[in-house]
Amino acid sequence: MYLKEYTELKNEELIDRIKTAKTEKNAVILCHNYVRDDVQRVSDILGDSLGLSRRAAATDADVIVFCGVMFMAETAKILAPERTVLIPEKGAGCPLAACATMEDVLEMRRKYPDHIVISYVNTTAEVKAVSDICCTSGNALEVVKSVGEAPVIFLPDKNLGAWVKRELGKDNMILWDGGCYVHQFIGLEDIERARSENPGATIIVHPECPPEVTLAADVVASTSGMYNYAAKHNEPIILGTEIGLTERINRELPDKKVGWMKGSAICSNMKLITLPKLARCLEQDIYEVTIDEPIRAAAEGAIQKMVELG
Ligand code: 13P
Ligand code: SF4
Repeated sequence: MYLKEYTELKNEELIDRIKTAKTEKNAVILCHNYVRDDVQRVSDILGDSLGLSRRAAATDADVIVFCGVMFMAETAKILAPERTVLIPEKGAGCPLAACATMEDVLEMRRKYPDHIVISYVNTTAEVKAVSDICCTSGNALEVVKSVGEAPVIFLPDKNLGAWVKRELGKDNMILWDGGCYVHQFIGLEDIERARSENPGATIIVHPECPPEVTLAADVVASTSGMYNYAAKHNEPIILGTEIGLTERINRELPDKKVGWMKGSAICSNMKLITLPKLARCLEQDIYEVTIDEPIRAAAEGAIQKMVELG
């Protein structure tokens, strides 16, 4: 069956097909917090990059279907090489991850041989393979702290790097010049509007937002950090991140008062994962994620160091 034929099916039939194929294949569906609401609803595990990496490493399913962008599916394959890893849309890339290549990193290593290379998981498998350690937005502070006084090259998100640098007072960090198109356009004016429209609300932003935004917010957190905060608190909360997370919180925690800061903060890459593509993926193994073994093994070292830190 071609994708067009799946798109002509009703959602109920797509959901039935997804459930049947999942059971037949002993598959698990991992899904990032930014993916479409209808795909989130049929997924087994929702989370942030760190949580989903951990779940991929620990699963005993034969097949992992990753509803998210390619670097996340690659991370699952790196950590669970014996499993089949599928992604419903191979064109679901992350422009932030695409802004650093393996050659760029090797060049920096030649220029600064005494620096530790810390890569955000939003990087390709090749970049991870030439990095010393990875981090996510959920553990970046702990990972950078773990290298002590050593100088660091931090890539590729300059805002996440600037936030870590400021929080830890660590001056010897070289920051890559990369940014996320969803978060870097959240500005101080968005926080000001959110505060004036929602007096008393707690403002939580993602560390990929610009430095003046992370400084003005009440809390800075990964997407799962935001979810956990909302689960524990009852005051109104406004989230400065991609809108999919707010949809998830409103669906799962309907008693909470959680809204998004900017309705145009949409990751169109994540939204490429749709129910018809998920059904096709499970029924026809489209698309399988593969990584050359030497690259995978080298990248695993950098990710494992992060996973072991917690
Ligand atoms: P989290 O790990 O916080 O979910 O963030 C992933 C991401 O891509 C943010 O843009
Ligand atoms: Fe990449 Fe930004 Fe989308 Fe996250 S929100 S996947 S960093 S483009």
